[in-house]
Amino acid sequence: MDLLEWDARSYDALPLPHRHWGTDLLARLPLAGTETVLDLGCGTGRDTERLLAALPAGRVLALDGSRRMLAALGERLSGAGDRLTVLHADLREPLRLPERVDAAFSVATLHWLPDHDLVFHGVGAALRPGGRFVAEAGGRGNVAGVLRALAEVSGGTDEARFWNFSGVDDTVARLRGAGFTDIDVQLVPDPARLEPGEPLEAFLGTVVLGAHLRELPAERRRPFVRAVARRLPEPVVDYVRLRIDAVRR
Ligand SMILES: C[S@@+](CC[C@H](N)C(=O)[O-])C[C@H]1O[C@@H](n2cnc3c(N)ncnc32)[C@H](O)[C@@H]1O
Repeated sequence: MDLLEWDARSYDALPLPHRHWGTDLLARLPLAGTETVLDLGCGTGRDTERLLAALPAGRVLALDGSRRMLAALGERLSGAGDRLTVLHADLREPLRLPERVDAAFSVATLHWLPDHDLVFHGVGAALRPGGRFVAEAGGRGNVAGVLRALAEVSGGTDEARFWNFSGVDDTVARLRGAGFTDIDVQLVPDPARLEPGEPLEAFLGTVVLGAHLRELPAERRRPFVRAVARRLPEPVVDYVRLRIDAVRR
């Protein structure tokens, strides 16, 4: 299947919980300021920018599979010069980087990737020994209420087919198998409450349901999102986050 394209402009204008997910994750990545850091699934570069600010003598490799997200990143970070390397790649394939990195960072991306063994091996190979991997993504139980609403609307039960919501034990085992140590993995409920009506629908359409909508003809997309939104018991996206902190052996 082709990589999903994202509506980068709408995305950046939304009240994204990703902002505090990124802030929290950055707080868990101690940096001296000279490192090279991989931002895996960098999107429009909101956290790439903050990484660059924390790395006055360091560099960031910003990788994503959406050309529109990377175009927005390019606009945002046009002054970064050679401290920034932008990479377009599909993370469903083995990770290939032009250089080794000191740390890897990822917000809200891993649940879009079907094979976490592949990703963790790739990140492990990219990191120098002792390098830290911090990540957060949708975890087991994520958006269960949205999935129930989706099943009602579409009459199906396989609506999680676009996502990979892993749990703690399976993730720890995968990280260990990929050569990580000092592993800390947690599942943390973090529901996001939105304004009902148009703001909720814009959020669902842009952030949550993009893969579902691309299967529909354009004229059915808005009604589909509205139908899902109306079936939610409250205007809440019931996020459960998988938080990963691990060190490359
Ligand atoms: C929810 S966005 C998060 C972006 C950014 N980290 C943030 O916090 O705003 C998920 C990102 O993962 C990227 N992504 C999803 N599947 C991918 C794949 N197979 N290869 C590369 N990037 C992918 C998307 O293009 C998108 O930019």
